[in-house]
Amino acid sequence: MKRLNGKVAIVTGGATGIGEAISRLFAKEGAKVIVNGFPEDPVMDVVSSITNKGDFAAPFVGDVSVEENAMACVQFAIQTFYKLDILINNAGVFPVMEQIHNYPTDAFDYVMRNNIRTAFLMTKYAIPELKKTKGCIVSAGSEAGFLGLAENAPYGGSKGWIHAFTRGVAVEQAQHGIRANCVCPGAIDTAWTHKEHGPMKKKHEKMIIEGTPLGRRGTPEEIANAYLFLASDEASYVTGALFSVDGGITIAKGAVGKMADKDVKKEPEDNLDLKHDMDGATDMIRGR
Ligand SMILES: NC(=O)c1ccc[n+]([C@@H]2O[C@H](COP(=O)([O-])OP(=O)(O)OC[C@H]3O[C@@H](n4cnc5c(N)ncnc54)[C@H](O)[C@@H]3O)[C@@H](O)[C@H]2O)c1
Repeated sequence: MKRLNGKVAIVTGGATGIGEAISRLFAKEGAKVIVNGFPEDPVMDVVSSITNKGDFAAPFVGDVSVEENAMACVQFAIQTFYKLDILINNAGVFPVMEQIHNYPTDAFDYVMRNNIRTAFLMTKYAIPELKKTKGCIVSAGSEAGFLGLAENAPYGGSKGWIHAFTRGVAVEQAQHGIRANCVCPGAIDTAWTHKEHGPMKKKHEKMIIEGTPLGRRGTPEEIANAYLFLASDEASYVTGALFSVDGGITIAKGAVGKMADKDVKKEPEDNLDLKHDMDGATDMIRGR
């Protein structure tokens, strides 16, 4: 029995990085998936490779920090698959690494819009539909939401907001049977944590890997597995959880990752045939 049989899910930012893994895993587990992304994202490619396998997906291309688009995304799910069971608030951006006195104000606005406003608007418009299905919401938290993030302090703040927002929604919506949880990843193997693809420098890569007891980044699939559990009926008694999937970075002190042996540092193989793990949002040219 597939774990999401009969469910309809929206995955925001669902065409690259962790979002691509969630879209593909949910479809494989029987969900009908609305894959959302910016016009610049490979949304059509992810949708067609899911449907080519005989699973179900449909594209909603649009910036969901824009109120009309968020509303339209939920309506599109209803028109296409007739209901909504799961909202995955995964969309987010990571455009710069700068100390706060040099942090560009337009980068701050961009982070707030795409990390916070997207989750607020999508949650707002999804809830009336989730009430009908006693559905659930899983949002992208982060280790940075607990620990803060030096040289991207606004990003860490945006994730702290997601944690608190999720808990408020969880308590308020429990009476309607809606659950709300966060997956809180550590450093994951997407564009954001590679100096070649994003704003992190070599020193940042070194710091995140050495600060992680398991001595490596996580894979998008390892994160998608946690989303799958929280979105499934197996998690029927879980709400308001900030579910860390972080290789231990939030419990470690110092460069403990250096002690992990070679096998521990080896990433597990990708079973999802990911194609866009390094195509993520690390610039400020997307959207609107
Ligand atoms: N990569 C990590 O190390 C890490 C760690 C902790 C948390 N996270 C969280 O996981 C989520 C995914 O991160 P990722 O590393 O896969 O990055 P990614 O850039 O590959 O994925 C994010 C996707 O969201 C899309 N997006 C952003 N704003 C959008 C909007 N307004 N409308 C529609 N689409 C939008 C982007 O274009 C991109 O496709 C983010 O919320 C991030 O904060 C990532």
